[in-house]
Amino acid sequence: MNRVDGKVAIVSGGARGIGGECARRLAEHGASVIIGDVLESEGAQNAAAIRDAGGKAAFVPLDVTKAAAWEKAVAEAVSNYGGVDILVNNAGAYITKPVLETTQEDFALLVAVNLEGVFLGTKICAPEMIRRAQAAPVGSAIVNISSVAGLVGSRNSPVYSMTKGGVRLFTKSTALEFAKKRVRCNSVHPGLIDTPMGSLAMSRAGRESNDMREAFARSHPIGRIGEPQDIAAAVVFLSSDDAAFITGAEFAVDGGVTAQ
Ligand SMILES: NC(=O)c1ccc[n+]([C@@H]2O[C@H](COP(=O)([O-])OP(=O)(O)OC[C@H]3O[C@@H](n4cnc5c(N)ncnc54)[C@H](O)[C@@H]3O)[C@@H](O)[C@H]2O)c1
Repeated sequence: MNRVDGKVAIVSGGARGIGGECARRLAEHGASVIIGDVLESEGAQNAAAIRDAGGKAAFVPLDVTKAAAWEKAVAEAVSNYGGVDILVNNAGAYITKPVLETTQEDFALLVAVNLEGVFLGTKICAPEMIRRAQAAPVGSAIVNISSVAGLVGSRNSPVYSMTKGGVRLFTKSTALEFAKKRVRCNSVHPGLIDTPMGSLAMSRAGRESNDMREAFARSHPIGRIGEPQDIAAAVVFLSSDDAAFITGAEFAVDGGVTAQ
């Protein structure tokens, strides 16, 4: 099934974890993918693996907090593949500290990566996405990776939760701003996902490491923690023309955690 055939996607934080899987799945479904990340060797390896599997992908060094780096990523997408149709604002930073222990440096890092990075990616990719959308049957799509911590409060990570809540409402605002310009914008809210960040979240939660995974699995009504492909499947759908009438929506992909 080629759900995004012929489209061009930029995936921030696409070197590993959820973003790495989103890049692979988008390529499997027919998109040409620009992987942007600060992890240069992992990002280049992921792009090479996609090409080895017959897909189209290139790596660009991207720090999402730097406007000039975003401009280069867009220029690369245009020169390699002809434009940008899909933006996955996935790169994220995570710090687990209660408010009383959070420093201003912690706060600044979370805001820079999780909020400013999404703002800059949207602002800098949007003109090219709007241009491409005019000639496309359905248009372009932005998918922002928020979190369940952007839907409900987080006891362990209050400032992370604050930034992810901001992503949720920024998504709805950009959906309204861009609706007539034919760019849809939706947010995905993962539960606990088995990635380096997910491991950090589990280890910081202070449970015994032996039964940590089982305890977290039990805390999800569906009985397991998530895998990156659980999120990538939702991202491919929201990026595709199958989601033509969906904009400004929030998708919990969390095994039922926020249904409780
Ligand atoms: N893993 C989870 O349990 C979970 C749950 C909810 C939401 N999320 C969100 O999903 C997204 C992906 O998380 P993940 O679990 O794959 O994490 P991860 O740490 O495994 O991967 C994050 C990627 O983002 C990149 N990145 C970090 N800062 C960057 C920057 N300034 N510029 C460019 N790239 C940068 C990292 O290098 C890495 O490749 C994040 O936005 C995260 O907040 C994750």
